[in-house]
Amino acid sequence: MKRCISTGLVAAILLVPPVTAGAQDVQASVQPLADQTAPQAVAWRRQIHAHPERSNREEKTSQLVAAALREMGITEIKTGVAHHGVVALIRGNRPAPVVALRADMDALPVQEATGLPFASQNPGVMHACGHDAHTAILLGAAKVLFQLRESLPGSVKLVFQPSEEGAPAGEEGGAALMIKEGVLRDPEVSAIFGLHVAPDLPTGQVAYRAGGLMASVDRFRVTLRGRQSHAAMPWLSIDPIVVSAHVITAIQTISSRRIDARQPIVVSVGVIQGGQVWNIIPEQVVLEGTVRTHDKAVRDEAIGLFRQLVEQTAAAHGARAEIEFSGDHAPVWNDPELVSRMKPALIAALGEANVVESPPVMVGEDFAHYQEAIPGMFVFLGVRNEAVGAVHPLHTPQFVLDEAALPVGIRTLSQLAIDYLRSKTAESPPAK
Ligand code: NI
Repeated sequence: MKRCISTGLVAAILLVPPVTAGAQDVQASVQPLADQTAPQAVAWRRQIHAHPERSNREEKTSQLVAAALREMGITEIKTGVAHHGVVALIRGNRPAPVVALRADMDALPVQEATGLPFASQNPGVMHACGHDAHTAILLGAAKVLFQLRESLPGSVKLVFQPSEEGAPAGEEGGAALMIKEGVLRDPEVSAIFGLHVAPDLPTGQVAYRAGGLMASVDRFRVTLRGRQSHAAMPWLSIDPIVVSAHVITAIQTISSRRIDARQPIVVSVGVIQGGQVWNIIPEQVVLEGTVRTHDKAVRDEAIGLFRQLVEQTAAAHGARAEIEFSGDHAPVWNDPELVSRMKPALIAALGEANVVESPPVMVGEDFAHYQEAIPGMFVFLGVRNEAVGAVHPLHTPQFVLDEAALPVGIRTLSQLAIDYLRSKTAESPPAK
C-alpha cells in the first residue's frame, strides 16, 4: 500500500538552501557539495550497517531514509512502495525530463565477523553486499542535487528499493514489484542509473560496460521421477539417481557444445536430493541450480536447450522430468547509446584515469528489471583499500568497504543525473 507523506518543513528547507548556478558552476559545485555531504553519508551508512534488515523487512532503514530526505527539505516522498520502498522527487527548473537514481537497502543472512565498532547488532544479519553504502550514497546525492535544484533542467526521482537479494518465499518484492507499483510512472522516467560497490576495484575508480555487465539469474528446480525398487533388483526400477547423473552431464554440454563459445554462460547444479537408504532405489531425485548469461537471446536459447536436454534425457531412460524456472531476471544490460552519452559524465566526476571498463561478471542484480522497461546504466564503484582491510569479497562475514568511496559514489550519481538531464534538454530545448 502506498502512503504519501508531504511535510513542507520550511525550517528544513532553510537548512539546505539551493545553490543557484549556471552550467559550468553546476559542474564545479558537485565535488565540493559531495565532499561536504561525505561525513553525513558515513554516519548514515554506519547507522544502517549497525541495524541491517533482510529483504522485505527494511522497516527501520526506510524510516531513516524518509526522515533524512525530509530533513533535507525534500517534500515529495512516497513510503511503503513495494513494502518498504521509498521514492522521492526533486523538481528542477523544468518538470521533464525525469531521471531516476536507484539504491537497494536490504541485508543478508550472514553473521558479521568484521569487528568494526559499528558492526551489525542484529545476530545473523549483515550488510555484506554494501547496500548500506548504496543507500547512504543515494541520500548524499539527494542532498547534492536538492541543493542544485534550481539549476537542474528536469527532475530527479530517488528510488530506494527493498529486497534486491530476493523476497522471502511466497512474497513479491524488489525491482519487479517497484515497477509494478508504478515507480517509473507519474512522472514518467526516461532513464535510470545505479551502482554497486566492488571490492576488487580500488577506491576512487568506477567501472562501466556497454551491453551485458551482470548475468541473468534463472533458478531451476528439476524433479526426476522414476520407479522405486530394492537396490538388489534395479531392473524393477526406473533409477532416478542414474538418470540424474546423465542429466547433469547432459546440461554441461549447453555451455561446452551448444552455445557460441564467445558468449559467457554458466549452468550450475547446487543441490541434488535423492534417496533415503543405501539399499533402496528411490522414486525421485530433485536437482536445483542456476543458468546465467549476459544476453537475452542466449538466455532464451540456453533455457530452451536445458528443457530439451533434461526432458529427453529423462525420457530416454524411461523417467519423467518436471522443470520449474523461478526467481529470474534478465542480464544487467547497459544501453550502449546511454553509456556512450554518459561516459563523459563519469570522466567529469572522477577524472579519465579513474573510469575503467569492466569485464562482464556472472553475479546478477535485479536492476535488470528497470533496464527491461527503460534505458539504464549500472556501474561498479571501487571500495578496495588494503590500508583499511577492504579486501574481502561481497557476501562474506569479513566484508569491509572503504568509506572514502562514499563521496566518489555521490559525485558519480549526481553527475550522471545532472549530465543526463542536460543532454536530454539539449535534444529538445523548451519551446519559445
Ligand atoms: Ni548487492
